[in-house]
Amino acid sequence: MTERVVAPSVLSMDYSDTGAALQMLENSPAQWLHFDVMDGHFVPNLTFGPDILKGIRKGFSGILDVHLMTSDPACWVEPFRKAGADLITFHTEALDNDPSAVSELLDTIRSQGLQAGFSVKPGTPIELFASCLPHADLVLVMSVEPGFGGQSFMEGQLEKVRWLASQRAENDVTYRIEIDGGINGTTWKKAVESGADTLVAGSWLFSGDLDQKTAEMLQ
Ligand code: DX5
Ligand code: ZN
Repeated sequence: MTERVVAPSVLSMDYSDTGAALQMLENSPAQWLHFDVMDGHFVPNLTFGPDILKGIRKGFSGILDVHLMTSDPACWVEPFRKAGADLITFHTEALDNDPSAVSELLDTIRSQGLQAGFSVKPGTPIELFASCLPHADLVLVMSVEPGFGGQSFMEGQLEKVRWLASQRAENDVTYRIEIDGGINGTTWKKAVESGADTLVAGSWLFSGDLDQKTAEMLQ
């Protein structure tokens, strides 16, 4: 069994006191931080670049999980590696859903000493990317349309989680199955029951007792 991981999404962090927010995350039971990079083109929102990740790297010793929602993912690998990323995930749609291009970019990311992941938007079939699975350290299932925190969980996306879990059980592959979007006290359990082992949570996790919620998710 893959160890369960909770990755708070820093999109929902309190930016009025970044130092305190980071310290709280560093001292929490969460092992990873999820860092959403949006370019205002692949998705209709803008967030953070490598310089911000560099600052976060100084205050967080766990895994920095970078989720690229950008039209040109390849050009961002090196800047985010230099800034301190441990894992970089990009979207298949940014590569015209071409499985060869997806495998190639996963290999490139790994060749830079990073872990590599790919993600699909809710409307993209995951089965298209069966050949990419041996190249991936993580597959990210989006359970909302990427772009914004605070949206409702799309339960139908759990079918992709189940498919990824069965592929992993049947083949010699070891990727993590991450879910992102609309995770709360009810939906995280459904995701885990379906086979997810890496839980991204933003608005729900940051509203209330993050330590307690994280500890519950890890039980
Ligand atoms: C959405 C982002 C998510 C977002 C999740 O495009 O990829 O990581 O922060 O936020 P919640 O948990 O509020 O849906
Ligand atoms: Zn994300």
